[in-house]
Amino acid sequence: MRRKIVAANWKMNKTIPEALAFVDEIRPKLRQDEEAELVICPPFTALYSVGMAIKDTCLKLAAQDVFWEESGAYTGEVSPVMLTDLGCEYTIVGHSERRGYFKESDMDVNRKVRALLDHGIKPIVCVGETLEQREAGETDELVTRQVEMALDGVGMNDVSSVVIAYEPIWAIGTGKSASGEDANRVIGLIRKTLKAIYGDGIANSVRIQYGGSVKPDNIAEFSRQPEIDGALVGGASLKADSFLAIARG
Ligand code: PGA
Repeated sequence: MRRKIVAANWKMNKTIPEALAFVDEIRPKLRQDEEAELVICPPFTALYSVGMAIKDTCLKLAAQDVFWEESGAYTGEVSPVMLTDLGCEYTIVGHSERRGYFKESDMDVNRKVRALLDHGIKPIVCVGETLEQREAGETDELVTRQVEMALDGVGMNDVSSVVIAYEPIWAIGTGKSASGEDANRVIGLIRKTLKAIYGDGIANSVRIQYGGSVKPDNIAEFSRQPEIDGALVGGASLKADSFLAIARG
């Protein structure tokens, strides 16, 4: 049985006091036995404070990006060693906003994935097509290639720590989510890709989330799909109640 994983991708939102206010609000509402694994991805600037504040809770800490080198002359970058230092258990890699605005390639994503795994951090690897690619019928080919390239050189032992997030770009922040059936179909295809590389056992154990305009009132559509193992949530994760409703939905 795969445990659901629901992650709050705060993107470039929340100052330290705002981030801590979220933790204060959610803490008393958390149950010992949350069905889903709950992950908070604050901006780099709030990682330390949030990490300290959630220490005694079931919430896990994640960064939104990483650079693949351990240290050196890379102004502005943050290394996997530094994220380990902060207590990050997960890190998002290859979000479409990074691929789009910051021109991250599949090769960059692969380097980041491998660097994280080398340091014991679990990558949440984002893949997904644009509206034009979808309309041109390129979704399956593109998503398969993104998955294969992200995992290039990742061995059997490491791949079970990887989480994949299928996020159709046209659904991110637009209020226009994919249908549950459609997301389930593409996620099934991702699982097939994993099967071809790693075999049945691993393909059935890797968790694959859906992301893109997930909200409390549409989460049920995704959680009832057999292939979907939780959600990567942007806008609707900024409020504690809405994040919790999604996590439990
Ligand atoms: P959204 O973002 O929930 O605001 O659509 C999801 C994401 O980009 O991870």
